[in-house]
Amino acid sequence: MSEIQNEIKKRRTFAIISHPDAGKTTLTEKLLLYGGAINLAGSVKGKKTSKHAVSDWMEIEKQRGISVTSSVLQFKYNDCCINILDTPGHQDFSEDTYRTLMAADSAVMVIDASKGVEAQTIKLFKVCLLRRIPIITFINKMDRDAKNPFELLEDIENVLGINTCPINWPVGSGKEFKGVYDRNKKKLLMFTANNGQKEVDSETLSLDAPELKEYINQYQMQELYDDIDLLEGAGDSFDLEAVRAGKLTPVFFGSALTNFGVEPFLEKFLEITTSPLPREADCGIIDPVQSPFSAFVFKIQANMNKAHRDRIAFMRICSGKFEKDMEVYHVQGERKMHLSQPQQLMAQEREIVDEAYAGDIIGVFDPGIFSIGDTICTANNKFKYRGIPTFAPEYFALVRQKDTMKRKQFVKGTTQIAREGAIQIFKELDAGMEEVYVGVVGTLQFDVLKYRLNNEYNVEIIMESLPYKFIRWIGNKDIDPKKLDLASDTKRIQDMNGNNLLFFTSYWSIDWALEHNKGLILEEFGNSQGF
Ligand code: G4P
Repeated sequence: MSEIQNEIKKRRTFAIISHPDAGKTTLTEKLLLYGGAINLAGSVKGKKTSKHAVSDWMEIEKQRGISVTSSVLQFKYNDCCINILDTPGHQDFSEDTYRTLMAADSAVMVIDASKGVEAQTIKLFKVCLLRRIPIITFINKMDRDAKNPFELLEDIENVLGINTCPINWPVGSGKEFKGVYDRNKKKLLMFTANNGQKEVDSETLSLDAPELKEYINQYQMQELYDDIDLLEGAGDSFDLEAVRAGKLTPVFFGSALTNFGVEPFLEKFLEITTSPLPREADCGIIDPVQSPFSAFVFKIQANMNKAHRDRIAFMRICSGKFEKDMEVYHVQGERKMHLSQPQQLMAQEREIVDEAYAGDIIGVFDPGIFSIGDTICTANNKFKYRGIPTFAPEYFALVRQKDTMKRKQFVKGTTQIAREGAIQIFKELDAGMEEVYVGVVGTLQFDVLKYRLNNEYNVEIIMESLPYKFIRWIGNKDIDPKKLDLASDTKRIQDMNGNNLLFFTSYWSIDWALEHNKGLILEEFGNSQGF
C-alpha cells in the first residue's frame, strides 16, 4: 500500500450536530480524551463560565451560549485519524450546518435523552438527511431522568423519518444508569463512575453472570430482559448498506459527562463509517487515492483571531496529498497559487500543517479571494467540484447605514459577510448599495449581521424588516423586469451578479406573476452570492 493510500485509509471525517445543550461539546471533549489529544476533562468546554470552548470564537456566541460558527478538530485514536467538524447548534444557522455536512463523510447526531428530538431542531437534523450520508445517533444524558428508550427511537423515526437500529441498550437510566448492553456481542458493559475524567472503568458481563447483581437489582434485571426480548422481535436489524445510504441510523445510548458508553460508541463508529469516498466533479468521479491533490472551500470564517482580523477559508481535501509549499490551482480564480499559512486545529492548538491527506480539513489565510464552493486542485489536473447550493432565504430586511459617511465600510462589511455565506444580499434594480436587501434563513443571522457590522466595520445600521417570504430568480434572460405585470406586493430586485429576481409575500402572488406573464420562468435557486 502506498503512503498516500495508507494515510487516507486511516481518515474518518464527521460532523457532529445537536440541539443546544444536548452535550455536543462534552461528547467531543470525551472523544478527544480517548484520543489522548487532551488530558483533562473540562478543558474544552465551559461556555457559561469565563473560559470559553475551543469552538466558540465569536463574542456573540459567548453572550448567548450558542455556537454560531463551526470549527474543526483532529485527533488520533488507535490507528485512525479523526476529523470532527463542529456545527452551529441553532437551527437559524442550518445552512451553515449543511455546508459543513458537505465536507463530512458522516454525521453524529447527539440527542438529549430527556428531551428527544426537539421541535426547534427538526429543521437542523433534517438537513442531515438531505446529504444522504451515514447518520449515527448518540442518545446522551442517560444518567439523568430519561424518556423511555423505545419512545426515543419512535421519536427519531416519526419526526425525522429515518429508521433506527439500536446498537446497544441502556441498563437503567438516571441515577440507576449502570451500563449498556451490546446487542451484537450479547454482552453487558457495566461502568464505574469516576467523575468523568480519563477512561472510565468497565466490566464486561454476560446476561446471566452472577456479578450482575452487584450492579442492578432484580427488578432492573427483569426490565432489561424484557427490553431485549422486545428489541429482538421489533425494530430494524442492522444493515450496513442502509446505514451507508443514510436510510437507517445506528443508535447508541450513553452519558458523555460520566463517560459511560463513549468508547464503545467511538469504536463501533469507526467500524461502521468509511474512509473518504470518491466525489463527483464536472469531469467525472474523483478517486481520493488515485487523483492528485484537490479540495473545496466549504466555510469562510472571519475573526478567528480578533487581534489580527483574519479570514480563514476552510477546505476539505477530497483527494491526494497536500504539502505545505506546493503550487495549487484555484479554479474559480483561474490562477496558480500557494496556500498561505495552511493550518489545522489539533485539540486546542492551531498548528501549521506540513502535509495533509484526503479527508482532512485545512484552514488557509484568505485575503478575500475565495468563495464557498470553490475548487482548489493542481494545475495539470483541473476540474470543478459541484457547487454548494444556497438555501432560499425566508426572512428579509432592508438595511442601511445610520451614518452616510460610513458608506464604504457598510458596502465592504455587507459584501464580505455575504461572501462568507452568513447572509444573502440583494439590491434595487440598477441601483448601487446605498441600501441593501438582506435575506436570511433564520432571524438570528440578522443579529449576527448587526453585531458584526458594528464590531468589525464600525458601522451602525438601521434594519427594517420586510414582509416577503419567497424569492424566485427570473430564468428568462431577455425579460425586462420593469415590464412584468406583477401583484402590488411583489418586489423587483437584483442579486450581486446583476441577475433579476422577485420577492413575493405569498404563493398567491407567485401564481399571479406566472398567470399574467406568459412564458415567465421563475427559478427557486440561483447563485445569489455571485462573487
Ligand atoms: P452543547 O455543546 O450541545 O451545547 O452541550 P454541552 O456539551 O455544552 O452540554 C450542555 C450541558 O449538559 C452542560 O451542563 C453539560 O455538563 C451537560 N451534559 C453534557 N452531557 C451530559 C451527560 O451525559 N449527563 C449530564 N447529566 N449532563 C450532561 P451545564 O450545566 O450547562 O454546564 P456545566 O455547569 O456542566 O459546565
